Amino acid sequence: MTEQAATPGPTPYESLGGETGVRSLVDRFYDVMDLEPAYAGIRSMHPPSLDGSRDKLFWFLSGWLGGPPIYAEKIGHPMLRARHLPFPIGVDERDQWLKCMSQAMDEEGVEPALQRSLSEAFLGTADWMRNKGRARHLRRMMVRGSPGPWDLATANPPSDPARRAATCNLLKC
Ligand code: HEM
Repeated sequence: MTEQAATPGPTPYESLGGETGVRSLVDRFYDVMDLEPAYAGIRSMHPPSLDGSRDKLFWFLSGWLGGPPIYAEKIGHPMLRARHLPFPIGVDERDQWLKCMSQAMDEEGVEPALQRSLSEAFLGTADWMRNKGRARHLRRMMVRGSPGPWDLATANPPSDPARRAATCNLLKC
C-alpha cells in the first residue's frame, strides 16, 4: 500500500479567483458602502476618496486569505485593532461592516459554502475591532468555546430567546 500525502485544498484567495477576484470583492464592498444608506454610518468614518481604503483592504485581504502578503510587505504588521482605535466602533458599526461585506459577497456571486466560512472569519475580526462600550469580545469567547449559533448572515446573536440572553449576557451586546 502506498502512502499518499494529503493534498491541501485551495486557499480562500484561490477560491475567490486570486488577485482579480479579491480586488473585485474589495471594490464591490466599497461601492456598496458608498451607495447604500444603510452603511452611511461607517462610510462617514472613511476619507472622501475611497481609493486608499480600497488598496489597503485589498493588500490586507490578499495575505489574510492565503495569497501574497502585500500589506505586510508594503506597510508591516497590520495591527488592525490599534489602527481602528481612532474610529468609534461598537455593535452597530461592526454589523454595518459585516452586512456590507455579505452584500458584496452576494453580489460578487461568492459560493455559499465559502461565504459562510468567510463570514465567520470576518465576524471574529470585526468583533475584535469593537472599542466603544464595555464589551467582551466574541474572539475571546470563540477561543473558550463558541457561544453560537450566531446568525452569520446578519451577525446578530442567536434568535432563540434563552440562547440570546445567555450570549448577550456574556458579550454585553
Ligand atoms: C468593525 C467594523 C469596521 C469599521 C467601522 C472599519 C473602519 C475602518 C476605517 C474608517 C478605516 C480607515 C480607512 C482609511 O484610512 O482609508 C479602516 C481601515 C482599515 N480596515 Fe477597517 N473597519 C472595520 C472592520 C475591519 C475588518 C473586519 C477588517 C479586516 C478583515 C478591516 C480592515 C481594514 C484595513 C486593512 C484597514 C487599513 C489600515 C491602515 O493601514 O491604515 N476593517 N477601517
